[in-house]
Amino acid sequence: MTQSPGPEPGAAFLAAAGEALAAARRIVALTGAGVSAESGLATFRGPGGHWRQHRPEDLATPQAFARDPLLVWEWYAERRALAAAAQPNPAHLALARLEQARHPGDFTLVTQNVDGLHRRAGSTNPIELHGSLWIVRCTGCRRERRDESVPLAPLPPRCSACGALERPAIVWFGERLPEEALPRAFGAVDAADLMLVAGTSGLVYPAAGLIERAVARGAMTIEVNPESTPHSGAVRFALRGAAGMVLPRLIGEP
Ligand code: OAD
Repeated sequence: MTQSPGPEPGAAFLAAAGEALAAARRIVALTGAGVSAESGLATFRGPGGHWRQHRPEDLATPQAFARDPLLVWEWYAERRALAAAAQPNPAHLALARLEQARHPGDFTLVTQNVDGLHRRAGSTNPIELHGSLWIVRCTGCRRERRDESVPLAPLPPRCSACGALERPAIVWFGERLPEEALPRAFGAVDAADLMLVAGTSGLVYPAAGLIERAVARGAMTIEVNPESTPHSGAVRFALRGAAGMVLPRLIGEP
């Protein structure tokens, strides 16, 4: 039995997972949109999710941007405003505390989220596999800059160096992940004896391949999600519950 039986993990099951976490020497954590759900930010595939309301090919592809950069930017500007207004929740804070309790190098956070909430919670160097809402990249000279202004004006922004359109530094469908992000993430998985996965449907590759790699290596694996995922049957502990409730308890907070 690898899955917590009820709607919430039982105390003994959670305690066993917590003991495994405490005993781990090197930890890698992978997060997805579900970790920010309790901050009020929409997931992608769940009820009210982005991809239930919009077609990705209209908003999150290079072709969509070439067709209508303003439309694409308006959607990202709205997400920037919502993310800026949101606060890190107990799940983000628990992951930051887990990092602080470990020696540098013994904890790596890999996230698919672009909202910046892990950093705001205190995580120092998350690997942002899918980019960041807060970085814009010139489509001409490719210069990147951090811009946290809300609202971002004017839209669409233009590069002050070369005048070309700037785009969100987000990985769109059909695009490669940022250079070095994926090798770093796989390196962290290969070095870890425990992988903690929270708030992701595990459907999007290559990120989901990190979970498969940890399972294949025989690492201890813990998944935190209110729903079952394609990986739930393969991980050692599938803890059913909201990340903001489960993660603080998992790291031993009252
Ligand atoms: P999804 O929307 O695919 O999945 C969110 C997951 O979070 C689901 O499995 C939910 O059951 C779970 N969930 C919901 N509320 C939760 C909570 N309070 N605590 C824990 N889990 C909760 O989002 P991702 O897996 O992040 O890519 O999606 C992966 C990628 O697909 C995204 O990064 C995005 C999207 O296309 C890009 O934009 C490049």
